[in-house]
This record gives sequence, structure tokens and C-alpha cells, in this order.
Amino acid sequence: MNIETILKELTLEEKAALCSGADFWHTKPVERLDIPQIMVSDGPHGLRKNREGAQNPNEAIEAVCFPSASALACSFDRGLLKELGKALGEECRAENVSVILGPGCNIKRSPLCGRNFEYFSEDPYLASQMAEEHITGVQSMGVGTSLKHFAANNQESRRMSVSANIDERTLHEIYLAAFESVVKNAKPWTVMCSYNKINGEYSSQNKLLLTDILREDWGFGGLVMSDWGAVDDRAKAIRAGLDLEMPASMGKNDAAIVKAVESGELSEEELDNCVRRVLELVQRGSEEKPQVVWDKDRHHKLAAKIAENCAVLLKNDGDILPLKEGEKVAFVGAFAEKPRYQGGGSSHINSYKTVSAVQAASDIAGVTYARGFNMGNEADEALENEALEAAKNADKVVVFAGLPDTFESEGYDRKHMRMPECQLRLIEKLSEVNENIVVLLHNGSPVEMPFIGKIKGLIEMYLGGQAVGEAEIALLYGRANPSGKLAETFPQKLADNPSYLNFPGEGDDVNYAEGVFVGYRYYDKKQIKPLFPFGYGMSYTQFEYSDLRISAHEVSEGKSFTAELTVKNIGSRDGAETVQLYIAPTEASVIRPEKELKGFEKVFLKAGESKRIAFRLDQSAFAYWSVKLHKWFAESGRYEVLIGASSADIRLSDAVRFNGREKLPVKFTLDSACGDITAVPEGLAMFAKLMKSVDIGTNGGADALGESGEEMALAMAGDLPLHAILSFCGIADITREKLQMMVDELNEQLGAE
Ligand code: BGC
Repeated sequence: MNIETILKELTLEEKAALCSGADFWHTKPVERLDIPQIMVSDGPHGLRKNREGAQNPNEAIEAVCFPSASALACSFDRGLLKELGKALGEECRAENVSVILGPGCNIKRSPLCGRNFEYFSEDPYLASQMAEEHITGVQSMGVGTSLKHFAANNQESRRMSVSANIDERTLHEIYLAAFESVVKNAKPWTVMCSYNKINGEYSSQNKLLLTDILREDWGFGGLVMSDWGAVDDRAKAIRAGLDLEMPASMGKNDAAIVKAVESGELSEEELDNCVRRVLELVQRGSEEKPQVVWDKDRHHKLAAKIAENCAVLLKNDGDILPLKEGEKVAFVGAFAEKPRYQGGGSSHINSYKTVSAVQAASDIAGVTYARGFNMGNEADEALENEALEAAKNADKVVVFAGLPDTFESEGYDRKHMRMPECQLRLIEKLSEVNENIVVLLHNGSPVEMPFIGKIKGLIEMYLGGQAVGEAEIALLYGRANPSGKLAETFPQKLADNPSYLNFPGEGDDVNYAEGVFVGYRYYDKKQIKPLFPFGYGMSYTQFEYSDLRISAHEVSEGKSFTAELTVKNIGSRDGAETVQLYIAPTEASVIRPEKELKGFEKVFLKAGESKRIAFRLDQSAFAYWSVKLHKWFAESGRYEVLIGASSADIRLSDAVRFNGREKLPVKFTLDSACGDITAVPEGLAMFAKLMKSVDIGTNGGADALGESGEEMALAMAGDLPLHAILSFCGIADITREKLQMMVDELNEQLGAE
């Protein structure tokens, strides 16, 4: 049946009912009109489908747990994310799930956010690229996604009541930018609003967010659903553009909708807009599709391949890695036997199998295992001694360390960035008996590493999915070559993080006082050396960058240009490298980050092989969010094009000049700084006229400033508000009215509104 016809047939009560779930995971059917129900299930890194008939909404069927987003982003691999998306789509198809919830593209503001493992990056561009591919992959299978958590859900503390207080530029440039790109390019079927408030208004009833920005500015045509339990005032939420409340509202809010329409507080048209979008989603989600087979073993292999490509080699002194088969290697640490490979909360997958490193190494000669510590904080001396004994007799020691489940999860934030004391103590002691220590980390978010100077090798696995053990053995023994790069900065210590003074805020308010200076944007600007910079990651081979060619050094409005370079694998092993392109503004009228990521390409090269890599860019690479124009603005000026192996390892550079047509609006008043006025030619002319009748030196003036007096007087005058001329000049024929007339004339000349 046609949706407009259905809308006419539905009663007010039926319409209201369609705007909330039937239960935790289903929409409501309307049998009388043959409207079916569809099922949604959690993702994002696996299918968490509720077992049929289960009483507990969290009792899920067995599925494949892939690496979580914090790991995925380190792959910098668009193709891989798409492959993952397709696999998820296949699983949903096989299980009759219409929408898989996720991915989340919230920005990692602080390493403490308990849910960082579910998010991609501190950088909006990287986050958008990963989310776009994930979504494109899933949706290519005819299954929908739900981009979440829209928006500014950057902490778990008080997530259901806190107000994220963010200025306009920061909101758009950092916290909305990834959502904007994903919505426009990947067109997710649905968007899930966040629990929190933004600048005092719940996202679920935030018209500015859900309608003005999402639909009107970005052209989103899909459905907005609430995060589970995020709705406060249902009528207001409908008016703001929140279509579907999840889970079931127990009839409470359905009745509130009916009442609001009857009282005239809500128009039926506003309700119809939401119902229409629910019906569209149901129609899309219930379309007949050919059955697909869910091959769990194939997906397990994919999970292992993905984990290999996500792992980040952070240290490899003296080429301690890869290990050689036959070497005496002591595996130490509970994570070798029981890896932590996913986080807690709504994304938790009921994995159909798990492979630990100990299992995966069963056929490798020379490997021993000693647990060394238990999950938790407390040291166990007997376990420690056993591990130390094993370490004494080994050529090399590999410590499988990380954060236990209780340390980070959805629902709460970490209080510090430390690893459990027992692990730190053991690594320290191990380093006293064996100088060849390698650490493998299993964690969702950065940790402090007091042991960094005492170990030779370090691989960050993040939360690597159910096949993590297989990937670890492949990486340790060189069957796979590490190629991940960090999607976030690892600070030396928590206090270095830009949000440190304002995380998680006071009471129900968190002020994003660091503005756009999030992640490397901050560390760069403040010249704070992190433990490991954004974009950093090593390989068992080396890459050389050369021959950067920019297609045009002058770029005008609406034109694109390319930056091309050669990358060569100059080592003796095959491997993949992620080449990063950053844009650095050299002149700007607002305070900007030193540089921003605007492109990356991951390229696989056989030993000795080289390839040419090309980036196509346009003016959007130069843009910042202008609060004068209330939109993205690419300012004319000179921009450096930096090509790096990380944000701190720039290998090649060149520059382009952008000549834009658009100018920032100017309108002067008596409060305008004289320097701002003289910066435009018309203003300079007005000023020259004015200065003829003004003796700025009547107050001691230039003479009193010594030899460079004139220059100094001018520099001082630059910051003076125009009206101050009246106080200093002492000239009878310049009056406030006359000055105002001159400013009015200037504004007219400039066409100011
Ligand atoms: C989480 C969402 C999740 C939903 C359903 C909420 O608590 O924030 O990410 O999709 O529950 O499980």
C-alpha cells in the first residue's frame, strides 16, 4: 500500500503508537493495514541479535565479534571497513534483522570516555571515512544502519542528563563534522540521537540538531530514532524531528502524543511527518530479499585479517620483532590465555568462538606460558614468581597486558589512565631479569606507560575481536606485517590531554573549553610531545616518500587540485603504509590548528616496490566553520600541503594559494579596532582623512615613546577602538556624530548590511 494512503487510514492512536517500539528491538505492526514490524539489533562490530523468545533483552545469539571501532580506525583502510560492513549486512540478512545499530562516530575528546572503544578517532575526517565505508558496506546488502550517537556524546558520566556546552564553531568543526560527512555521503537509513543535552537542550528534542541541521542543512532523508530511553518530552521530540522512540514507551508517551495533538500543542501534520518516516523505514526494512548464508568460519577469518591490519607497532628497538620460530619465548599475562577483545555494554557480542594467543601458538616450538597476574589490580606473588622464572629461562618475553573489563565500559568513564598496578609491577620486575621484553596491549583507549623505557617492543592491539589471538601470533612471528597507525594521540599523562580541566564537567554541565583544539590539534599547537602521536605506527619494513607534485599552486573557488607522490618499500619485507595528507593554514583571520588531516591512502607494497599515490582536494580542505557566516568558509590565503607518515613525521611539503571569491562580512562601528578598519583599503582611506585632523601625539604621543615612536604609536593605535580617537585627539571639530557619519559612509562603500 502507498504510504500516503496508509497515513489517511491510520487513526490518531495508531499513528502515535507507530512512533515507539513494540519492545526492545521491534517496531510496532498494524495488522489491520498489513503493516509489518521490523527488527533492529545492536552492532556495531558484530551482530547482537536478541535470542528468539528470550526474556532478557540482552540474551543474544552467537555471532562473530570483529575488532571494535578504536582498533578498526587504526587500519586506515577504507576497503577493509567496507568488507566488514558487508559481512555484518550478510549476518543481518541471514537473521532477518533490518537495521544494525551503529557505527558511532563521536569524537574522542578524552581518553577517559568509557565508550571510546566504540568510537573511531579524535579526528573528524578519519572518523567520517571509517563510518562511511562501514555504512556503505552494510547498506549494500539491503540492510540499514543507525549512525550514532548524534551528537556530542563524548563521555559516559551523566550521559543521560549532562549538557555538553559547546561554542558554534567547535560544535560544527569538530563534533558535527564527521556526522555531516557521513550523512551526506553514505546516507545511513537512520540516525540515533544521543542521551545528552547540547547547550541545555536534550538531543532527543533538539530541533536545531534534528531538523535545522540534520534535515535542512545536510539533507538527511531517513529516520531519527532515540537512543534507548533518551526521550524526555515526547511531544517536543516529535516537533523537533525525533521519529521513533526506542525501546517501547509502555504506552506512556503514545498517550502523550495523542493528548498533545488533541490539545493543539502538536499539529497532526508534525506527527504525520514522523509516522511517514517510520513507515518508509518499515517498508525499506521489510522488502523481500534473497536468503543469504551466514558462514561464521569465513567471518571469523575476516575478523583475524582485520585484527592483523589494525594492530599498531609502537616500538621495535633492535628489531626485537618479529620473533623467530624456535626461539625460547615466554608468554606472560592473563590476556594471553583470556584476551580482552571487546568492551562492555550494548555492543557486547556473544562470540561463537574465541582464539587466544596461547591457543594460536600451540604449534610453535619454544613458547611457554605463565599467567603472571590475574585480572584486577591485586598482585599475586606466586603467579609473579612463576612468570619471573619463565622469563629468566627465555630469550624473549612477551607480556599480554591491558585493561580488564571493569576498567572501561559503556555506562561509566575511567577515572585515570593507568593500567592495573599488578601488571605494571610485573613488567618492571620482568625487565630486571630479561632485557628483551615485548608488550601487547588489550585496551579500548590509551593508557599511561611508565614502563616504556624498559621494554623493546610494543604492539597496541586495542580490542581486537574474537580472532585476536590468531592475529597476535601472525604479527609476532612476522607472518603478518603490522600496518596500523594510531587514530588518536597517546599523551604521556592524563594531565596533558586538552579536556583535562573540563572532563567530565561539574554536575550536569560539561564545558568544551578547549574549543577546536582536540587531540593532535592541541598537542601540535601547544608543542606538547605526546607518548605517541596521531597517525603513528611502525612496520617490519621501511618506506621512503619522494617526488611530491602539486597540480596547481594557485587554486581558485570551485576548482580542485591533486597532490601526487611516490612511496617505496625500501625494506626487505612486503608491507602496507598509510600516507597522510595534512593541510596547514599559514595565514588566517581566526585561530586555527597547526594542521588538519585532509587525506590518507593505505598502500600495499612488495619489498622494493614503489607506487604513485594521488590525493584530490578542493577548497573544503581549507575550510573552517565561520561564526560570522554560520557555515564552512575557505579563506583566501596560503596553505601548506604536508605529506606525512604520522602527524609528527612530515616527509614532504609544498604550498598552494587559494583565491576564494567569498569574503567575510564586514561592518564597522565606533567600537571597531582602528587596525581592523585600516586593514581594508576603503577603511585606510577613511582613516587617512581622519588623521589629517587628529594629532595623536597631544598626549606626549610618539615623542614620548623614544626612537621608534611612530611605529609604536601606530601599533598601539591598531588596537584602539575608533571612538577612543575622540578622547586622545583633543581636536574640536571631530565629534562623535561626525565620526559616526564617516563610519556609516565607509559601511555603505563596503556594502555592509
Ligand atoms: C546505547 C546504544 C544502543 C542501545 C540499544 C543504549 O544504551 O547507548 O548505543 O544501541 O542502548 O542497546
